[in-house]
Amino acid sequence: MKKCSLFFCLLIVVGFVKPDPDPLQDYCIADTKTPQTFFCNGAPCIDPAQAKASHFATSALSKPGNTRGNPFGFNVTLANIRNLPGLNTLGLTMARVDIAPDGLIPPHAHPRASEVTTLIKGSLLVGFVDTSNRLYTQQLRPGDTFVFPKGLVHYLYNLDSKSAALTVSGLNSQNPGAQIASLASFTSKPSIPDVILTKAYQINGQDVTKIRQNLGG
Ligand SMILES: *[C@@H]1O[C@H](CO)[C@@H](O)[C@H](O)[C@H]1NC(C)=O
Repeated sequence: MKKCSLFFCLLIVVGFVKPDPDPLQDYCIADTKTPQTFFCNGAPCIDPAQAKASHFATSALSKPGNTRGNPFGFNVTLANIRNLPGLNTLGLTMARVDIAPDGLIPPHAHPRASEVTTLIKGSLLVGFVDTSNRLYTQQLRPGDTFVFPKGLVHYLYNLDSKSAALTVSGLNSQNPGAQIASLASFTSKPSIPDVILTKAYQINGQDVTKIRQNLGG
């Protein structure tokens, strides 16, 4: 690859990991009621004169998410601009993460946010892989905190086979995004061609079909 095209590739990659833009006012309470007729970066604000304390509060994270419907055994409940409209433009998201006994949040990445998580209950094995392919992993006990740097692949596994784990995460984007590596590879719509997956994972076509079925793709 030529030097200059490599430079442009790097620019594109770096462009994806920019933080949310700084707000231009104290707050911009998301207007989630009015049907959206114009589309902007984030959500439009309500008239600031209509701001109330309740726009800055939510009980969304007070109840555990149901982990039964999820094949990996986790449920992420978000405090975001839909239930906490005062968050709009502040570059923040809060997440309550419930993980069933022996449940896993499979390797995934947040393209727009770093994540810091504090374990409230249970026993978690967490880890992330950096861009030199080195793994950083820790076992967390209640009260312990771990940080996943922006854009890097990471996982959270509940080591306890009897009780659920609860961890609370802050992310520095109001729209962090999440991409689970296995689902992105094997359940995208339309599918990634088999030849790409057989070569990428060094497996055969039957393996691809099997993994797709296992993952519901
Ligand atoms: C997460 O939990 C909530 C609250 O129990 C539930 O409504 C939702 O369907 C669950 N999500 C998944 C993916 O199971």
